[in-house]
Amino acid sequence: MPDFVGAVDQGTTSTRFMIFDHGGNVVAIHQLEHEQILPRAGWVEHNPVEIWERTRAVIETALVAAHLTAADLAALGITNQRETTVVWNRRTGRPYYNAIVWQDTRTDRIAAALDRDGRGDVIRQKAGLPPATYFSGGKIQWILENVEGVREDAERGEAIFGNTDTWLLWNLTGGVDGGVHVTDVTNASRTMLMNLETFDWDEELLGFFGIPRAMLPRIRPSSDPNLYGVTLRTGPLGGEVPLSGDLGDQQAATVGQVCFSPGEAKNTYGTGNFLLLNTGTELVRSRHGLLTTVCYKFGDQPAVYALEGSIAVTGSAVQWLRDQLGIISGAAESESLARQVEDNGGIYFVPAFSGLFAPYWRSDARGVIVGLSRYNNNAHLARATLESICYQTRDVVEAMEADSGVRLDVLKVDGGVTANELCMQLQADILGVPVSKPVVAETTALGAAYAAGLAVGFWKSADDMRANWQEAKRWLPTWDEARRDEAYAGWKKAVERTLNWVE
Ligand code: G3P
Repeated sequence: MPDFVGAVDQGTTSTRFMIFDHGGNVVAIHQLEHEQILPRAGWVEHNPVEIWERTRAVIETALVAAHLTAADLAALGITNQRETTVVWNRRTGRPYYNAIVWQDTRTDRIAAALDRDGRGDVIRQKAGLPPATYFSGGKIQWILENVEGVREDAERGEAIFGNTDTWLLWNLTGGVDGGVHVTDVTNASRTMLMNLETFDWDEELLGFFGIPRAMLPRIRPSSDPNLYGVTLRTGPLGGEVPLSGDLGDQQAATVGQVCFSPGEAKNTYGTGNFLLLNTGTELVRSRHGLLTTVCYKFGDQPAVYALEGSIAVTGSAVQWLRDQLGIISGAAESESLARQVEDNGGIYFVPAFSGLFAPYWRSDARGVIVGLSRYNNNAHLARATLESICYQTRDVVEAMEADSGVRLDVLKVDGGVTANELCMQLQADILGVPVSKPVVAETTALGAAYAAGLAVGFWKSADDMRANWQEAKRWLPTWDEARRDEAYAGWKKAVERTLNWVE
């Protein structure tokens, strides 16, 4: 058995390739950003061809840097930004349109219409999701209705859909020369098209969006030795490696954080924040604005579900300070700037750039900065931005505790923003719960590697992977209850101000 497992993590702003050893340690990594295409307010697109080119490049570069070849890899896993929608032609390999990204709100009318005539409740019941611009179904409908020629090609099975996992798997296994057209249950559970109990595309749901079944990928487990075939010898790996793991990135991070028991949860701080609570093989329906989603399915074992609190804008609010306002030159500076002040100076920033996701699900919301006085400066805004990440997390933690009855005793965290020590301290203070970060904070790629490696026997069991988890740092709450309550009450008032902004 080779000594390593590889994982491609195709994220919202970049694509990375990582190689892990049996201890879950990072042996090699390479990462490249891709363009964020913003043609109009609310629209966010990626170029799928650029994403495939970046994927090839990161794989090739990481292998060369580590002096490894395909023969050193026991398996390859894929993980991806979820919901982002690609439709391409299986004969030419060309996308019909740019990928419509999960953050894109152009389908707000499609989503709103679903809730006017009762279809929304069917989607809630069957797919576990509230009708929202976030998920793939409306994005596919938009492409079918707005891009010439796609519908006819889709009826014939020539125009095919995938999230970026499916797009990369198709390309890695041969593309126009017989690439596989598959996805896994976790990705499929984010489309509004899959029935959460049968794990199959649902005719009634497909009918709501006018989507021909012929354009959809086959749904497979997240980890399986015969999942997706092997990589092409002529591809970026330069050899045949079993493709045996595929998971949406947030589910992958849950696996990477070894949350294998019901009641275990993790929070990933990336472009957005995503808190997932493992609910075991029981499908728990949320009454407090969370999503019910598939957490993972390993081979022929029963699928494990999760409750999810999705927050659209967290790390990307810090990027906004850098790119749109120009008040910091890099993410790290958000910490040094925010440290120049003792507190937020009375201001709250609610970055509802894509409306508000969990637990509010209000696409009519838009961002606000409230409480401003002449006293306030850039440092207060930087601090309010970091706090917004933590308050939004508290909103979903409260919903999760209300839904599950489980009181969190520690919050396991990962993702880019966890490098910000002030933000993590604020998180512990605002939640009143310790925050714990693992040594390997690249839990998304690690989770995809675990899924792939488990399938081929590289890791034998959940315990094998659990043994790899080690805490790197823990932040303890320092605020007293009164301060915590008062500060949170201010946040709730600020959230009120974002609502009903868009007609
Ligand atoms: O649901 C969207 C999520 O999968 C995106 O994650 O880390 O690419 O921002 P990330």
